[in-house]
Amino acid sequence: MRILVTGKKGQVATALKVIGAETGVEILTFGRPEGDLANPQSLEAPIVAIEPDVIISSAAYTAVDKAESEAELAEAVNVKGPGELARIANQLDIPILHLSTDYVFDGEKSDPYVETDKTNPVGIYGKTKLEGELAIAKATPNHVILRTAWVYSPYGNNFVKTMLRLGETRESLDVVVDQRGCPTSALEIARGLVEVAKTVTRSDDLTLRGIFNLTGQGEATWAEFATVIFDEAHRRGRKLVHVNSISSTEYPTPAKRPKNSRLSGEKLFKTYSVRLAPWQTSLEECLDALIAQPDKKRFIKGKQL
Ligand SMILES: NC(=O)c1ccc[n+]([C@@H]2O[C@H](COP(=O)([O-])OP(=O)(O)OC[C@H]3O[C@@H](n4cnc5c(N)ncnc54)[C@H](OP(=O)(O)O)[C@@H]3O)[C@@H](O)[C@H]2O)c1
Repeated sequence: MRILVTGKKGQVATALKVIGAETGVEILTFGRPEGDLANPQSLEAPIVAIEPDVIISSAAYTAVDKAESEAELAEAVNVKGPGELARIANQLDIPILHLSTDYVFDGEKSDPYVETDKTNPVGIYGKTKLEGELAIAKATPNHVILRTAWVYSPYGNNFVKTMLRLGETRESLDVVVDQRGCPTSALEIARGLVEVAKTVTRSDDLTLRGIFNLTGQGEATWAEFATVIFDEAHRRGRKLVHVNSISSTEYPTPAKRPKNSRLSGEKLFKTYSVRLAPWQTSLEECLDALIAQPDKKRFIKGKQL
């Protein structure tokens, strides 16, 4: 199976390359400058030439706060680009797996969100990602939209890496405690995506298509997540950093974020038998890759980091 993935150095695209190499699945990443989502006309010729069996639409405008002042660019990358990818997938008669976000919800629900819950994004990023979902669904019925959340990994920019970096020079950090979600490892997302791709390319079953949640098991607030990151980093030889829980009003950001964006993974499990590992387990895998152990050098798949 040959999978074309949008985004070259993104967290999920990089994780897919790692998991592809482990599982013998051919992963071809595709992105700027030859494929620019903000310039949809650039997409068709290179994708057709690659002859993929499935497209994974992972690239996105992901700067949640910056999107508030760059709505036009966010819309081009998150709506028009994916819509064109889905049109091309439809023309090639192949499925498209598209990553979306927990930020399509307003966070007012008290339980975890299921796929049929009413969407109501509170920021530009979530709004454009929701419109991207609609553009995909309009362009092809052969789609699987996977909403993920709070992505972390040894690659790119993410909360785990930011906490470790700030923790190097601070004794304590203020972290918000009134947003609750599902931390999710990009490596686990990649494992899940490969399984979904294998199943969906083998079957026309309509129940395999549509919207699914794809998040790590368990939940946390950002402050709880940070506390576990620092505890685990301490176990790996770093100094212990104290987390002060603060409210969102004490840490104002340009974009509003949902207070509860937990997603239920039950539909994905029932349909695909795919369930991602608990976030605490995946965090260990991430920290093992990021933090050198005092008594052993860091290796991933035989390569020294
Ligand atoms: N990160 C999260 O916490 C989170 C949460 C929920 C959902 N998601 C969704 O999950 C998916 C993967 O996220 P991620 O964390 O892997 O993202 P990421 O690390 O921020 O990477 C984004 C990728 O998109 C590419 N990109 C941005 N603008 C582009 C354009 N105009 N044309 C082509 N490529 C472009 C970037 O390319 P360059 O390398 O050239 O910049 C980068 O490779 C996204 O769809 C995102 O919306 C992420």
